[in-house]
Amino acid sequence: MAATQTPKRPASTTPKGGLEGIVAGRSALCDIDGRTGRLLYAGYDIVDLAKDSSFEETCWLLWHGELPSKEELQGLRAELGANLDPRASVWDIAADAPDSADRMDLLRTQVSLLGMSDPDVAENSDDANRAKATRLVAQTPALIATSERISAGFAPADVDPEQSIAWNFLHLLHGEAPEPADVRAFDVCLILHAEHGMNASTFAARVTAATLSDMHSAVVSAIGTLKGPLHGGANERVMELLRDLPDVAGTRQHVEAMLAAKQRIMGFGHRVYRTEDPRATILREYSRELGERHGEKKWYELTVAVEKAVHETKGLYPNVDLYSGSVYTSLGIPQRLFTPIFAMSRMAGWTANVMEQHRDNRLIRPDSEYVGPAPRDYVPTEAR
Ligand code: CMC
Repeated sequence: MAATQTPKRPASTTPKGGLEGIVAGRSALCDIDGRTGRLLYAGYDIVDLAKDSSFEETCWLLWHGELPSKEELQGLRAELGANLDPRASVWDIAADAPDSADRMDLLRTQVSLLGMSDPDVAENSDDANRAKATRLVAQTPALIATSERISAGFAPADVDPEQSIAWNFLHLLHGEAPEPADVRAFDVCLILHAEHGMNASTFAARVTAATLSDMHSAVVSAIGTLKGPLHGGANERVMELLRDLPDVAGTRQHVEAMLAAKQRIMGFGHRVYRTEDPRATILREYSRELGERHGEKKWYELTVAVEKAVHETKGLYPNVDLYSGSVYTSLGIPQRLFTPIFAMSRMAGWTANVMEQHRDNRLIRPDSEYVGPAPRDYVPTEAR
């Protein structure tokens, strides 16, 4: 066996696994206080944004660093409305994809295709990036919802440029005008998932953008990264768990058995938060309200039971993914679209990060600590 090289770097400068605690860049977009459970977008508390703002306004805030004036917001809504319909070829992919295809794989492929025909694809200026960001945010709802309708054999529903992104998504998915209270609940979900600092998918987007690659390529990297169950993919697994539970009374035993078997309970824990994720606090209330209004409180009640069991057994707090499962289910959204919806919202944050990266760029190229064999002589095949 070959001798192993002694690390050249002192242990104190070697990052912990998963780059924990490493500051990998500067950003004016988002600030998280993991100790107190506070999340701010460009200085605005998400609690206030979830109460009074809209997803469209949040997009402007992330792209410009300030809240829009009334006219600016109207202008953005008009621009988003004009771009709600992606070009036709993306529907061929949706029709050709096997029904078993992961919806994040489909979205990743469709966004990649859109990039090839975007008029500004190779242009990384601020103006071109804002135009591409607007198109991407506008097109993603249809990519997700209409693809689902095509897969189910229904004709695509029409978009309404006068309505919001949240309204259009629910309308495209269900083929009928959504209730205003459902639109508001979904809009809040989009606000809450829009941005979250140097999370894995945003880091992936920034690494891609930092090579001076284009926005669509960066977003494709991000979609592939968000898909994983330790990141955005957790919300679909939460719903799988809720469906596996016998009932509220049997939840604790089920959860304890999972933890005893060293399984992870999705929707719990976080690298940054040491207390409850503030997004979970807001979504818990929407989960309750939607369950009551739609006459199916089961998913809310099961989620509360899981939360109690996990916290009391393991001391873990819920993250954003825990209550989004029951919220989306109450809105009639199929489980396989939960992670794509996360992507639809995070598109605002990814694109804002790409713009920020391109504005003040340096190649992101960290080092690694070599722990392989010490230098040794090459031995020809016949002598091995
Ligand atoms: N279920 C059971 N145990 C857990 C969980 C969990 N959800 N999360 C953390 N732990 C335990 C883990 O086993 C470890 O225990 P021990 O020290 O005894 O081995 C300890 O807590 C620390 O875990 P870690 O994996 O080192 O922590 P991390 O900071 O690397 O991981 C995490 C963060 C989010 C990947 C992790 O908490 C997890 O796997 N959670 C479940 C997946 C999930 O809900 N992901 C969504 C995150 S929020 C939305 C997003 O940004 O994507």
